[in-house]
Amino acid sequence: MTDTIPAHGGVLVNRLLTGEARREALAQSRELPRIPLTDWSLSDLELIGIGAFSPLRGFMTREDYDAVLESMHLSNGLVWPIPITLPVEPTLARRLRPGQRVALVGQADDVVYGILEVTQVYPYEKRREAEFVYRTTDEAHPGVRKLYQRPETYVAGPVWVLNRRKPAQFSAFSLDPAETRLAFQQRCWRTVVGFQTRNPVHRAHEYIQKCALEVVDGLLLHPLVGETKADDIPAGVRMRSYQVLLDAYYPKDRVLLAVYPAAMRYAGPREAVMHALVRKNYGCTHFIVGRDHAGVGHYYGTYDAQKIFSHFRPEEIGITPLFFENSFYCEKCDGMASEKTCPHEEAYRYILSGTKVREILRRGERPSPKFTRPEVADVLIAGLTEEVGVRGD
Ligand code: ADX
Repeated sequence: MTDTIPAHGGVLVNRLLTGEARREALAQSRELPRIPLTDWSLSDLELIGIGAFSPLRGFMTREDYDAVLESMHLSNGLVWPIPITLPVEPTLARRLRPGQRVALVGQADDVVYGILEVTQVYPYEKRREAEFVYRTTDEAHPGVRKLYQRPETYVAGPVWVLNRRKPAQFSAFSLDPAETRLAFQQRCWRTVVGFQTRNPVHRAHEYIQKCALEVVDGLLLHPLVGETKADDIPAGVRMRSYQVLLDAYYPKDRVLLAVYPAAMRYAGPREAVMHALVRKNYGCTHFIVGRDHAGVGHYYGTYDAQKIFSHFRPEEIGITPLFFENSFYCEKCDGMASEKTCPHEEAYRYILSGTKVREILRRGERPSPKFTRPEVADVLIAGLTEEVGVRGD
């Protein structure tokens, strides 16, 4: 079997307890103080547990947090651009002592998902974090808004995962980094390009994926299915749309579809670097960064998420980013193209904003097939109609 790319930091972290160790930890957890976790923190916990966030073995200490904010590195020198921290209500956090173990429970269901050994409890400044991570302190930014709503204290320490959240609807596509790595080996893929998305796959996405597929062995289509902002298309609908698209337009033996169960930060450039490192942990050798990757509104320049990679030496990142220019269908070229390959004027190009596409779909109409494949449009129309039915608007 071929080797897979080393995880970030050299070792794929595994903090999942199984068998007797898990049973003992569950019994022990009944005696421990309980810390309620939001969906966002539960997904961070799980991503640490399965090694997607290697080399992290727990929630960050103050030293790592400061180093990440100020230098985009951990205190051990490894690149890491976004803090992975556990916010806890100060009244609860104040009672915790270093060395103490706590049970991490779901806020909504009270299930014990993990155990954390407290190493530190520390306050933080939200505006400082916003400025560094999001390059803005504007509350209209969805990542900043989330940050401002959090409790004011972080609790740090290594974690162990005792229970997993595997949404039934995605179970067939829930593959841990160890599992995607094995899948790549079984398929004899030496080079694999990872594709992050929080949207349906439109023609521009398909085009850049297929350009990449011309030069690598396989594609990991890796949609983010954790928390997204309310006006993004729900993950369940998107998953159906990816399946019909792959069935109709992609060679089966060149693509693996799996979910990435993380929360979307909308942190643009910094999140692009994190998305790349995480996909390396899943075993990808290449990673696509197109226009305004992980961006929102007008907070980031179109290619800021590409430019940020020049701050690092390639070996520090360890996965090869593949940069793509803004892509579109051009009438004159009679095909997909980008600013790098198309000499024609804008008037010939099909470019729609996310908002505009949703408007068309909500009317029950298909956008032009030059923008979205009809099979995909039909799934999205059905999905949005269901959603409207549920909300009653
Ligand atoms: S993201 O927030 O998950 O990055 P999205 O799902 O829209 O957003 O994009 C997925 C990937 O496709 C990102 O790398 C993004 O930069 C790229 N991308 C999206 N649309 C285009 C486009 N028209 N041209 C080039 N790249 C694009």
